Amino acid sequence: MTGFLGEYYLWVMALHIIAVISWMAGMLYLPRLYVYHCDAEVGSKQSETFKIMERRLLRAIINPAMTVAMILGFMLVAHLDAWGEGWMIAKFALVFAMGAVHGMFSRWRRHFAADENRHSAVFYRYMNEVPTALMIGIVILVLVKPF
Ligand code: HEM
Repeated sequence: MTGFLGEYYLWVMALHIIAVISWMAGMLYLPRLYVYHCDAEVGSKQSETFKIMERRLLRAIINPAMTVAMILGFMLVAHLDAWGEGWMIAKFALVFAMGAVHGMFSRWRRHFAADENRHSAVFYRYMNEVPTALMIGIVILVLVKPF
């Protein structure tokens, strides 16, 4: 499959980056909504509005963007035959961690939706930094390819 994208390689890379930007925008915004949702009274109009915003952000933006970013990412790996490259293996590890954080964000959304949130606003402020740190590591790995 090496080189199978031919002249479309840069188009796939561009679409990969667009999907990644959308995924990261959602991953950085959703925990911020959780921070403010913690202060909204259960059953209040504000809390119900946050539930709608969180559900739409996750289902209409974050989930589809992650799926597209991953499918195009794997097409790029196959095109470059980069499976065994050190930078790509490290990138896979950080992307896997990003997927795990995505899973936790999704679970916490269900807890808020059921008025069963179990964490504080401070907790979500710290969690907001995790996708940021992972994103910085991923972008450096794929552009600098340090190993
Ligand atoms: C399973 C998920 C992913 C896979 C398999 C993957 C794979 C790849 C591959 C093979 C390339 C091409 C590298 C090159 O041509 O030198 C690439 C480019 C890129 N990826 Fe990903 N990626 C994934 C997820 C992500 C994520 C989550 C981010 C950011 C948070 C990201 C950011 C980028 C960037 C910025 C580029 C462009 C690099 C350049 O211009 O040389 N990728 N990706």
